[in-house]
Amino acid sequence: MNRKYRKAVIAGNWKMNQTASGIRPFMDALKEELPQPRPCEIVLCTPAVMIPAMIRAGKDCKVAAGGQDVSKYEKGAYTGEISADQLADIGAKYCIVGHSERRQYHHEDDMLVNAKAKALLEKGITPIICVGESLEQREMDLTIEYIAYQVKAALYGISAQQLRRCIIAYEPIWAIGTGRTATAEQAQEVCEAIRGVIRKMYGARPARAVSILYGGSMNAKNAAELLAQPDIDGGLIGGASLKPADFAAIVKATNQ
Ligand code: PGA
Repeated sequence: MNRKYRKAVIAGNWKMNQTASGIRPFMDALKEELPQPRPCEIVLCTPAVMIPAMIRAGKDCKVAAGGQDVSKYEKGAYTGEISADQLADIGAKYCIVGHSERRQYHHEDDMLVNAKAKALLEKGITPIICVGESLEQREMDLTIEYIAYQVKAALYGISAQQLRRCIIAYEPIWAIGTGRTATAEQAQEVCEAIRGVIRKMYGARPARAVSILYGGSMNAKNAAELLAQPDIDGGLIGGASLKPADFAAIVKATNQ
């Protein structure tokens, strides 16, 4: 983490867990645990229907609310979809795009991820753009090339000005929800490579300023070592973000 040039971000991804009525007790417990002042930006990405409850409960807690997906379309006949405008209107400041579960279960490709990131930027929402290789790709030594492709595709047509509002999350698919974390060296190697790709696309300064998160079984125990890496600026946390004490411990680990 290099705090001189970029901000540290700890974002929770609740996936399809919790309920709106469970948010208040969760936030009360979290508030007890969080350090004062906050050492980093804290975000909780919930199902869209829970965002208003999160904003109400997170107001005096300095926790920002985010979504987990968005439509690439602006508006119209897309039953079941939620637009960037609708997310912005209820106060979402962040939104995950291209999570591997969306890519896997909903067949989202890199072009769609790019369109969704652009739709969010248009409405002033920070996209948390997820990239990550499968175990097979890692074993075939394709990781760096594959991630470079994903990053280039996701950022296609995004201006340097807009890039300042983007966050990249490196989430190796084999580490998500498996309890199998990438080693700090493995995670650093890829996050450094991501910054290299951004440097080639936008130049040194914008690359230096982009926050790159690691995600995949990050927890209270392994967070400090991962966050100590020079190119890892925070975390995207699944399972551990559902437990107030664990999530707060990860937030505290940014303060090193
Ligand atoms: P995990 O999930 O922390 O439970 O591995 C991370 C994610 O999917 O964003």
